[in-house]
Amino acid sequence: MNRRVVYTRGGLPADVLTVIEEPEPAPEHGQVLIRTTAFPVHPGDLQAIEAHPETAAKPVPAGVEATGVVEAIGPETRVAPGVEVGGRVTVFPYPGAWSQWLVADAEVVVAVPDELSDEVAAQMLVNPLTTVMLRREAQEHLAFGYDGFLVQTAAGSSVGRLVTGVSQFHNLALVNVVRGERGAVELRKRFPEVPVVATEHPDWADEVRKAAGGRPVSVAFDPIGGKLAESLLDLLTPGGKLVSYGLIAEEPISLHASTLLSKSLTLRGKNIGRWLSEASAERRASDVATAKQIALALKDQFDVAATYGLGELANAVEHAVRPGKVGAVLVRPR
Ligand SMILES: NC(=O)c1ccc[n+]([C@@H]2O[C@H](COP(=O)([O-])OP(=O)(O)OC[C@H]3O[C@@H](n4cnc5c(N)ncnc54)[C@H](OP(=O)(O)O)[C@@H]3O)[C@@H](O)[C@H]2O)c1
Repeated sequence: MNRRVVYTRGGLPADVLTVIEEPEPAPEHGQVLIRTTAFPVHPGDLQAIEAHPETAAKPVPAGVEATGVVEAIGPETRVAPGVEVGGRVTVFPYPGAWSQWLVADAEVVVAVPDELSDEVAAQMLVNPLTTVMLRREAQEHLAFGYDGFLVQTAAGSSVGRLVTGVSQFHNLALVNVVRGERGAVELRKRFPEVPVVATEHPDWADEVRKAAGGRPVSVAFDPIGGKLAESLLDLLTPGGKLVSYGLIAEEPISLHASTLLSKSLTLRGKNIGRWLSEASAERRASDVATAKQIALALKDQFDVAATYGLGELANAVEHAVRPGKVGAVLVRPR
């Protein structure tokens, strides 16, 4: 039997997630059968569960990314290089990835390099692809990579650490912003050359300007929104761009048109769902190759906060949103 995590109504994940049993699947033409070894609990997975209507006609399978071992390949199926029976793979996007067995379309199955642990492999696609997507968006700004600074909030997050690693790699000027001094200390230890500012200091925006040393603050990456996003718009120099990629704050981003007009600012939303539907197959393949390179080059930044079993889902989803957590929460479904 296969055990799969589903929900039948929206709500708090710990309340609505349940594990069902169903027959073990078999791969058809174009599909790959995978025995899952680990999957991450992404904030976006939990947001999807919370945002779901109160009732669902049928169980909705949870999760989008997982890693595992190929058990079988469907007849006459073309697979990506390195995907073979017995080999390790990661899948994304796979709606319903929180499952002991997956039957995935071959096109979303990516071979895992030998150098990567299962812990890194389980996080090899969503967050690195998000980093690639954000960097591409920043690069449209003419000052990015020249004299312009990038500022990012929630910089201690899994995505934030990858953005920092990639910025160091490509010599991009960055100021990291976190909410508390404790997170700032941790991040300074990790990346001693990158300035970190904590928003718990009332004059944090001045600290960011000071860290930029008079150079323009051209681009901001922000997964929070609300009042923090408003402060970032104030902080940006004329022509600057705010890239919003998350919705942690409950309050809206309140904005008078003059804020945009007076400094010719750009406000842009980015999410990986749209990347999936808008990017060409060639672009997606190229971005997946870059994601793998990020995983290989920055494997020490793929921290795991904790690992749980399938029977401990409520603990896993609670841990995934715990303040101060560093790294992904993984579930090993066997
Ligand atoms: N648009 C997309 O396609 C996309 C893709 C991937 C991720 N995301 C978003 O990116 C964000 C980071 O994801 P992740 O997996 O890297 O997260 P993560 O590792 O779980 O980290 C979450 C971070 O958010 C910070 N945080 C939480 N609530 C906050 C608040 N009210 N004010 C300030 N900071 C707060 C935490 O700071 P502390 O350390 O202080 O607790 C932590 O650094 C999430 O919002 C996620 O939804 C978006």
